[in-house]
This record gives sequence, C-alpha cells and structure tokens, in this order.
Amino acid sequence: MNQFQPLVFSGVQPTGNLHLGNYLGAIRKFVALQATNDCIYCVVDMHALTAQLVHEDLKEQTRSIAAAFIASGIDPTKHIVFNQSAVSGHAELAWIFNCVARIGWMNRMTQFKDKAGKDAEKASLGLYAYPSLMAADILLYRATHVPVGDDQKQHLELTRDIAQKFNLDFAAKIRAIGKGIDIKVGDEPVHAYFPMVEPLIDGPAPRVMSLRDGTKKMSKSDASDLSRINLMDDAETIAKKVRKAKTDADGLPSETAGLAGRPEADNLVGIYAALSDKSKADVLADFGGQQFSAFKPALADLAVEVLSPITGEMRRLMDDTAHIDAILKDGGERANARAEVTMKEVRDIVGFL
Ligand code: TYM
Repeated sequence: MNQFQPLVFSGVQPTGNLHLGNYLGAIRKFVALQATNDCIYCVVDMHALTAQLVHEDLKEQTRSIAAAFIASGIDPTKHIVFNQSAVSGHAELAWIFNCVARIGWMNRMTQFKDKAGKDAEKASLGLYAYPSLMAADILLYRATHVPVGDDQKQHLELTRDIAQKFNLDFAAKIRAIGKGIDIKVGDEPVHAYFPMVEPLIDGPAPRVMSLRDGTKKMSKSDASDLSRINLMDDAETIAKKVRKAKTDADGLPSETAGLAGRPEADNLVGIYAALSDKSKADVLADFGGQQFSAFKPALADLAVEVLSPITGEMRRLMDDTAHIDAILKDGGERANARAEVTMKEVRDIVGFL
C-alpha cells in the first residue's frame, strides 16, 4: 500500500500567554520531531478571531508565539514557521471543508460547547466552524502527523472525517486528475487525495492540569494566574506557583498505580517527567516515598532550569521585531508555495474553473 509523504503540521493560537500546558503538550514535541521530520509550525492568527474579534495586540501576540517556537529550539530555516493569515489557502480550503463537514459532526464538538458557554446563540459563526478551519490548516499541506495536547483529539478525529468524506465523494474526480494515493482506511481500500492524519498526543503530559485543581485543564483563560506556569514567568514566580500548587496529604507513591485517584499528584509527577524527558515510573523510582515538601522544590528547580533559557531568548527575540517578521515572511512564502500546489489540484477536483 502506498503512503503519503510524511509531514508534521501543528498550530498554536496567538491568544494570551503561553503556559506550561502549551509547552509540554505541543511545543516541546514540535522541537523533538524536527530532527527526523519535515515540519510546518503555524501561528494560527485567523483562529484568534473566533472567540474574540477585536484584539489590542494581535500582531505582538503572533510575534510572541513565533518567538516561543524559535526560543524553544525550532529551526525556521530547516522547517517552516509562519502565520496562518499569510497563506490564503487556509481560508479557501476551509470554505470547501465547511461544505464537506456535516452540521451533526460540528454539533458534537465539546470544545465549542465549552467555549460558547451557556449562550451558544451569541457565539460567532467562526467559533462554530473553527474545527473545519483547523482541518484545512493541516490538509492544505496534506500533512500526515499532528503533535497536539489531548484537548485537540476530537478536532483531529473531525479532520479525518472531513478527509474521508472528501476522498469518497470526489473519488472519481481524484482519479481523473491522477494525484490520489491508494491507502487503506481500516480494511477499506480508498483512493485518497487527503491523508488520514495521525495525532501525536502521547508522552507523560498530554493534558497538563491546573495547579489549583487537578481535575481542570491548565488554561490561558483560568481566572487564577496561580493555576498555570506561564512561559514568561520569572524564576521566583515559578517557584511560588509550584510551592502553592494543590496537593493531597500523602507522600509520593513508588509506582504509577499509586497515582490513581490523586489528580494533583499525578499532574505534578507528569510535569516533572515531561520536563526531564523521563517516564512517570522513572520519576517515582527517584522520588517515591518522599513528601511534597521535598518534591516541590526539585520540580520548581527543574521548571526554572528548562524554562528560563527559553524565556530569556523569547525576550531577546521580541526586542527585534524586524527579525521575527522576516522569519514569518519567509516561512509564509514557502508555506504558500506548497499550499498552492494543493489548492490548484483541489480547485480542479471540486470543479472550479
Ligand atoms: P491552542 O492554541 O489552544 O493550544 C496550543 C497547543 O497546546 C496544547 N495545550 C495543552 N496541552 C497539554 N495540556 C494543556 N493544559 C494544554 N493546553 C493547551 C493544545 O492541545 C495545542 O496542541 N486548535 C488549536 C490550534 C490549531 C491547530 C491547528 C493545532 C489550529 N489549527 C492545526 C494543530 C493543527 C488550539 O486552539 O490550540
């Protein structure tokens, strides 16, 4: 069976400060993947309009995500770093996908329900269609692998559904242009134009939880700043937040099974493991039996050791906006050249003159 050319794609929204969840769930994985893959990393500025239309500083926010990518170790010359709005194919393909996706599929999206809140009638149409734009982001490059945190899993399933329906509905047209690939979806042979994307969610911290409540996701929108470690926090703030992190009264178990039913302990061990590229079992082999009063300072030190060089480099990069803008412009041009190859074929498949 044939295979699509492997390509990694992911995106981060330029809304609010990046936090440890974004770093461990996404950016740290982006960095690791670039050694062995062709990668495209996108600052999804068009997505930023879906929940809030007017932003005081969208340009600055966009630059700061690009700076975070680069400060974390992404090489924008070997790979592509760009902002979504620079490549019009994202919007164009999203429109076609709006016509592929079914309303019933969109109605199942839990993130829309969470973000729209009680008064969903007042949410923007963009927020509702958001997952269709996300599918377009990925499939515009016919990307095969998408590193994300656990909260994006459902959106990637929708991306597969959209790809599948497009491939089946346009099967004859795809054959006619001769650009499809014979793949298997389950046991079914399909002549596919778009790949079935594989989410890359694994690792010890696919869902970093709030430091104040181990059952809630660490998030930009949490009212309490103590709930998250921001990438721009200084060492003292990080230490304070870890010290104040909620825990239970017991010490650390020696085996991972002992973390069951202890969300706060599980979260802190997961964070330590992800920051040190170890498994939770390895961390517990070192810290099992110890109290949080001993573990928390070690965790704070580790977080500072990993994050402070990134923060320093981000600040340095943010002082040179011309440099960041040049990187994004170059990335946008290279992304656009690839996107146009897909869009020419898609227009042909769909039947646009
Ligand atoms: P966004 O901007 O909300 O988050 C960026 C990335 O950070 C991950 N993440 C987390 N991972 C672990 N624990 C957490 N607490 C946590 N919080 C956030 C997210 O899963 C994500 O990987 N829809 C996307 C952006 C997007 C995208 C795409 C991603 C648009 N197009 C195409 C991949 C491919 C989003 O809002 O991520």
